[in-house]
Amino acid sequence: MANKYHIMSYGCQMNERDAETISGMLGQLGYEKTDISKNADVIIIHTCCVRESAENKIIGKIGELKHLKTVNPGLIIGICGCMVQQKDTAKRLVEKAPHIDLVFGTHNLHQLPELINQVQLTNNQIIEIWDDEGSIVEDLPAQREGNLKAYVTITYGCNNYCTYCIVPYVRGKERSRLPESIVNEIDGLGKEGFKEITLLGQNVNSYGKDLCDLNINFSGLLQKIDDVTNITRIRYMTSHPRDFNEELVMTVKNSKNVCPHFHLPLQAGSNKILKLMNRGYTKEQYLSLIELIKQEIPHASITTDLIVGFPGETEEDFLETLDAVSEARFDQAYTFLYSKRSGTPAATMENQVDDENKKARLQRLMDLQNKISLEINKELVNRSLSVLVEGPSKNNPSQLTGRTTTNKIVVFEGDDTLVGKLVDVKIEEARTWNLTGKLIKVY
Ligand code: SAH
Ligand code: SF4
Ligand code: F3S
Repeated sequence: MANKYHIMSYGCQMNERDAETISGMLGQLGYEKTDISKNADVIIIHTCCVRESAENKIIGKIGELKHLKTVNPGLIIGICGCMVQQKDTAKRLVEKAPHIDLVFGTHNLHQLPELINQVQLTNNQIIEIWDDEGSIVEDLPAQREGNLKAYVTITYGCNNYCTYCIVPYVRGKERSRLPESIVNEIDGLGKEGFKEITLLGQNVNSYGKDLCDLNINFSGLLQKIDDVTNITRIRYMTSHPRDFNEELVMTVKNSKNVCPHFHLPLQAGSNKILKLMNRGYTKEQYLSLIELIKQEIPHASITTDLIVGFPGETEEDFLETLDAVSEARFDQAYTFLYSKRSGTPAATMENQVDDENKKARLQRLMDLQNKISLEINKELVNRSLSVLVEGPSKNNPSQLTGRTTTNKIVVFEGDDTLVGKLVDVKIEEARTWNLTGKLIKVY
């Protein structure tokens, strides 16, 4: 019987994509995937450290795994990802949890096969973390999740250094993949039958800035992908308002298959806070981008990320966030309590906001946003929308679920043969988080 591996992956889409590479590499070593940790011979904990809550969850998980070693002494437990890339974290972790066999960082993911070999040969604990990013390693194997939607990384790292954010420290400098590598990967996905791709980068709008000789930017890349590949739905994330421009809006507008959905994190509505965050734009500049999108592509959806309780945020500053949310009228917002990340400039800023205040503000923000989301969704009732069918609905498995081009979840009655197809659904009921409707056409 083949040896088995189990991956516990936390964090963002970047990590989800990297987990597919980890799977691919373990597959090449002859391991088979299992969803049950106690059946595994290799367990990889793929970490995130963007907020403290993410870290705490992972530390708990590492502790829980200790008893599996007594049942299966040959079990290899590996920890990787953003959390261990922070200074001294690996050392702290293995001191606390000596049952860890292997620690590797975000910059040397590709070394996993040789590191596993080393652990097996020497029976020693191996810690191998590179401080610097090195160059992009192409053509690593990948075992994709599903066969309908795929993530395609276009840039690694981030140069923005928002003052609250740990990502630049753990993911390194921004590096763009070559356009032909990206197009080849997408071509391959198209041939395998994938219908939707999402291009990934911490700031996709700065794609190509490091590829000086090639004279390509994000709009150019998007257009190329739209022109030469046969993917039905092209998405991308995340945009940064600092580099987001009219050229991109027009590229999306004039494209065949780029979805009319813009995820454009605002983070805060007060110019004072935006400056302290080092975001590089004002509320007014941000709102004029929203205006531009609405003018050029009126049916587009717009979503955002918001942080409440950044150090120095007063009630007046917070009211500016509420004001910006009312004016922008986002389809949806991902809202976060500010979380102190050691090593970032904001962690040592004065006037940290207390927890109680933060939580109260978060609730007020969510109440406002939920009201707006519902109002916007209600406008879709009686409209017929194109939906890419993904599978049975989680909450009601006798129904199907899929997404519109604008990334809204639609639940409707239909049979399994529709999975993977594009259909039209007439919307009958709107909720804050999803829409329900009736199937009217199959393509
Ligand atoms: N590069 C992307 C995503 C970064 S992480 C971007 O710039 O949008 C995703 C979101 O997590 C961020 O947009 C931000 O809203 C939130 N976030 C990052 N660091 C945080 C922190 N220290 N506390 C709370 N939220 C944070
Ligand atoms: Fe973090 Fe800012 Fe980079 Fe996003 S753009 S990853 S929030 S530093
Ligand atoms: Fe987390 Fe790293 Fe992504 S810190 S959000 S997994 S880039």
